[in-house]
Amino acid sequence: MKSKQIEKYILNHTKEEDSLLAELSRETNLKVMYPRMLSGHLQGKFLEMTSCMINPKAILEIGTYTGYSAICLAKGLSDDGVLHTIEINQELQSFSDKYFDKAGLKFKIQQHIGSALDIIPHLDDIFDLVFIDADKENYLNYYKLVFDKVKTGGFILADNALWDGKVTNNPDQHDKETKGIVEFNKYIQQDKNVENMLLPLRDGIMMVRKL
Ligand SMILES: C[S@@+](CC[C@H](N)C(=O)[O-])C[C@H]1O[C@@H](n2cnc3c(N)ncnc32)[C@H](O)[C@@H]1O
Repeated sequence: MKSKQIEKYILNHTKEEDSLLAELSRETNLKVMYPRMLSGHLQGKFLEMTSCMINPKAILEIGTYTGYSAICLAKGLSDDGVLHTIEINQELQSFSDKYFDKAGLKFKIQQHIGSALDIIPHLDDIFDLVFIDADKENYLNYYKLVFDKVKTGGFILADNALWDGKVTNNPDQHDKETKGIVEFNKYIQQDKNVENMLLPLRDGIMMVRKL
């Protein structure tokens, strides 16, 4: 009960969801499978705020889905900045593309269709900010692939770091996604090249700063 009241209070004291993002969210819920994957209002605002604080020249997002988090992140880009976003499901491209256009951000967003494991090695930019939000079993692979492409002082954020609380279950009960997240969190915690914190927002966001 108390947590519901707190949640309501938090939402009442966070700027209203942008009408375009609300429309994107509605259309995703109506037409696309697994709408729970979308970042949503609070997390979206957090991503937007973080990006505005960094004012990045280059952002990489792994896992576009319908484009909600990409739009939030792109809002903080510098005037000449670019956001690369990678999505394996080609069927989602026209949906996210429509909203990038409506948001007036299409010229700053470069969409890549295919597996991030294949695409990341071909990206030449050095990133100020990376958002990992694709298949959980590859989180550590993505981290290792992007690490040298992140500038010193740059940030890597990874969604679902708590994986619905399953990270605290007995390891015998871990499915492949939980194993992927647990392995990723453990690696980061032991990585001497970074500073990190696990932010308990929504499903947990691992925040990493490259030293
Ligand atoms: C949780 S959703 C992303 C949600 C989105 N970032 C947001 O907040 O609205 C994860 C997405 O990653 C995509 N994905 C899964 N495996 C992938 C891969 N190997 N490469 C690129 N995208 C992948 C899925 O198709 C799905 O659309």
